[in-house]
Amino acid sequence: MTGKENIVLTGDRPTGRLHLGHYVGSIQNRLKLQEEGSAFFYMIADVQALTDNAHNPEKVRASVLEVALDNLACGTDPTKTTMFIQSEVPEIAELTIFFLNLVTVSRLKQNPTVKTEIKQKGFGESVPAGFLMYPVSQAADILTFHATQIPVGEDQLPVLEQTNEIVDSFNRIYGKTFERVKPLLSAHTRLIGTDGKAKMSKSIGNTIYLADTQKEIEQKVMMMYTDPNHIHVSDPGEVKGNVVFSYLDVFDPNHEELAELKKHYKKGGLGDVIIKKRLAKILNELIVPIRERREVLARDPKKIMDILEAGTKEARKTAQKTLEEVKTKMKINYFAQ
Ligand code: TRP
Repeated sequence: MTGKENIVLTGDRPTGRLHLGHYVGSIQNRLKLQEEGSAFFYMIADVQALTDNAHNPEKVRASVLEVALDNLACGTDPTKTTMFIQSEVPEIAELTIFFLNLVTVSRLKQNPTVKTEIKQKGFGESVPAGFLMYPVSQAADILTFHATQIPVGEDQLPVLEQTNEIVDSFNRIYGKTFERVKPLLSAHTRLIGTDGKAKMSKSIGNTIYLADTQKEIEQKVMMMYTDPNHIHVSDPGEVKGNVVFSYLDVFDPNHEELAELKKHYKKGGLGDVIIKKRLAKILNELIVPIRERREVLARDPKKIMDILEAGTKEARKTAQKTLEEVKTKMKINYFAQ
């Protein structure tokens, strides 16, 4: 059942709790794949998190548990998915070092994902070397497990492209070893922030967390921009660019009613509060079971760490096998029997 072509791997950077953007961008997709019976690796990418949080080890450390809780609360099942911590699989770091020789600095600087992030984080020329090369480390995350199906958000596509370039170079130089990888995008890959300005991102503070309370959800929805020209209920309103409707497009299960509401809003006579209340209710209903499961799980952090430890042990077995194979191909298996 776990033929090589079916191995799925994905991960999160532990830099904070997960939010609705993660949910529609990747978690939903993961849960579907988990049920399809492929070998599934889920990695908490603490090494990657440290590439731009080197000075914040406490945050990364605390977020490992938060992110594990978020995933488990959403339905990640450790009997079906191997959940592990990146830094505890040193073979990934080893493979990263070998891959670094197959990639140029200029190519990394031109990677659109990295380029955008360097700009967003204001690194300029002072970008940490580890951050610049995280796509190489991510290629190693994936290829250490011979994974080929990679559920990611849209922003990660250039990173996976770079993985495929590494696959091609490695195979050409050392002989066929790795398969090319395929991104698996969710139906909704990008959720705008509650401010409507950018994607949902914890660094901007425009997020709704999977652990948010009903009150927090309501407050955040009430703050959302609608149409600045929709001043009186009777005014005709704009649906396009209206944050509340953008969210309803993603989360409202009743498409017919939503279409009617849009018509009504455009015509005039439908107040912002009504659509906001509708959205807050839908989001809360989505989050309630996640929040409740999360609260229960959070009472026993030791149990969560045990799950991660067992998963990491399991992941390491695969990683060691891959590294043996890689070193043989690279002719650096000096003491092999
Ligand atoms: N860079 C990914 C993100 O920010 C997280 C990640 C790390 C990842 N390693 C991975 C995703 C390997 C897929 C596969 O979302």
